[in-house]
Amino acid sequence: MERIKKISSLVDDNSKVIDIGCDHGYLGIELIRQNRNISVISSDISCNALSFARKNINREVPEAKICLRVGNGLDVIDKNEINTIVIAGLGAHTQIEILINGKEKLEYVDSIILSPNSSEFYIRSNLEKIGFYIYDEDVVLENGKFYPILKLKRGIKKYTYQELLLGPILINKSSKVIYQYYKNILDKKLRIYDNLPDIYNDKKESILSDINILKKHL
Ligand SMILES: C[S@@+](CC[C@H](N)C(=O)[O-])C[C@H]1O[C@@H](n2cnc3c(N)ncnc32)[C@H](O)[C@@H]1O
Repeated sequence: MERIKKISSLVDDNSKVIDIGCDHGYLGIELIRQNRNISVISSDISCNALSFARKNINREVPEAKICLRVGNGLDVIDKNEINTIVIAGLGAHTQIEILINGKEKLEYVDSIILSPNSSEFYIRSNLEKIGFYIYDEDVVLENGKFYPILKLKRGIKKYTYQELLLGPILINKSSKVIYQYYKNILDKKLRIYDNLPDIYNDKKESILSDINILKKHL
């Protein structure tokens, strides 16, 4: 639940939120419980996931008016229904694809909160395409897994390669979890580097360059 609590803490008061890929619906439940005048649309591409969410919502916050919608990404809303998008627990490529495919629905959106399952580098590298920049970043460690969380605001910022790799905001934060998160990325890259045959010379060079950036930062 720490991950859900962290994501919810990044949602502004008085927001109109869509939680895309809500699955169990816990984010919507948490947002309603916080009583911060936040309205929630919980959506999922899977009908089964939505029935699961419906059961949890009816049990936990039966009085709440959480709107449940089934469908792909931003297809389920009109652009004036929301000003905040949350997408958590999906792959980075799917998250960016959902935002690019639904770009015309972003007109009134001022915050986007993303927590990808993998490749936050890919998220950071593709934000210009949707016209948002990284306003805040954090990492949560839950059940032995690291979950990066990015809060985006409207606007364009150019990032250096180091900022794309380490996170332009995260790089300036320090905590035990953030240290462990970078160390975990470094260890993974060292393993890949050691196991990659020498014929993949270019790939090895680029991994080595990442390894040096990470080592220097740690
Ligand atoms: C691993 S769950 C994440 C649940 C929750 N957001 C969390 O972070 O704990 C991913 C959910 O995303 C849904 N999903 C995958 N692709 C989707 C899409 N294009 N549009 C809406 N939902 C999608 C899946 O059906 C699944 O329920």
